[in-house]
Amino acid sequence: MEFLQNTWYFAAWGADIEPGKLFARTLLGKPLVFFRPSGGAVVALDDRCAHRAAPLSMGRLDGDRVVCGYHGLEFDGSGACVRNPHPSGRIPAAARVRSYPVVERHTGLWIWLGDEAADPALIPDFSKLDDTGPSVTRRDHMVMDAAYDLIVDNLLDCSHTSFLHEGILGNQPMIAAPTEVRQSGRTLNVIRTARNVPPPGMFDMLFRQDGAPVDCWTDFRWDPPSCLLLDVGVTPPGRPKEEGTGYFGTHILTPETERTTHYQFAATRWNIRAGSETEEMRQKISDLRRFAFEEQDEPMIRAQQRIIDLTPPHELKRVLLETDAGVVHWRRIIDEMIAAERRPSERLAVGA
Ligand code: FES
Ligand SMILES: [Fe+2]
Repeated sequence: MEFLQNTWYFAAWGADIEPGKLFARTLLGKPLVFFRPSGGAVVALDDRCAHRAAPLSMGRLDGDRVVCGYHGLEFDGSGACVRNPHPSGRIPAAARVRSYPVVERHTGLWIWLGDEAADPALIPDFSKLDDTGPSVTRRDHMVMDAAYDLIVDNLLDCSHTSFLHEGILGNQPMIAAPTEVRQSGRTLNVIRTARNVPPPGMFDMLFRQDGAPVDCWTDFRWDPPSCLLLDVGVTPPGRPKEEGTGYFGTHILTPETERTTHYQFAATRWNIRAGSETEEMRQKISDLRRFAFEEQDEPMIRAQQRIIDLTPPHELKRVLLETDAGVVHWRRIIDEMIAAERRPSERLAVGA
């Protein structure tokens, strides 16, 4: 599988990188080590010592330097070797590790792994996460045992909620919702609105808790490569959204390897109903969403991945349904962007 390189990937939540500690994570098959120098921006380096390829994350931090745990070479935040503890003290010219641009924004760390200049203006807008108060659920993370593209497919085809998450996030009457796709540059919105349907369990809990019919919408925004923001909510039938309640669900995917994916998620609630602004409810929503992704989506997508891997390519059928409109669009855009990376002169034209 080929990944888009010249783009921002979500590396971790900012809070994951604790002062004085090394943090290891593999992204796009590349082992990386992160740390937070005193008073400085988070640093990301190849987690591979320039001497004998030991992971630097198995060493320790000494101030703002990483000390390799194997033979003690020391590297600064730029990746330069700044100390050889052995008798000559000589530092070979090649003794450096690659460092990568990192921007801390919207409580997350965004990393640029490509060779082109990194432009922070290209980081998608996740300002819904800027609120550090109780309206945002737990900033969560899990690793899914599947390629990232199958998970984007899962998110951009919300019709699955009526089956895989029946009762919690969807129900049978919601199947009738049409799927609409809007594209603006390289940003997609995949929109479904189910009218006058029983409220799915999660939303009944957040809204009136009486099971009375609602209009329920899902509007999934996708930005390359795999950054998704879901505007989801319920309102009384025929009434404006503002009379209802809902949340902005953050779903940001970063390939760990070709067959495993970091899944970062949180939800920012709005129009929080009286009585449901409690910490207990916040935990409940956090747990329920994690349950849906970990116990319902992940086993299905993992099993789907296994079947795909066991099937000869010529036998793989990809029948399209009308609910696949978003899936077709995002795949077309990302394929064009990846192809353009192989043809640098066309890079700027894609999706413009
Ligand atoms: S492997 Fe790092 S100093 Fe030897
Ligand atoms: Fe799902």
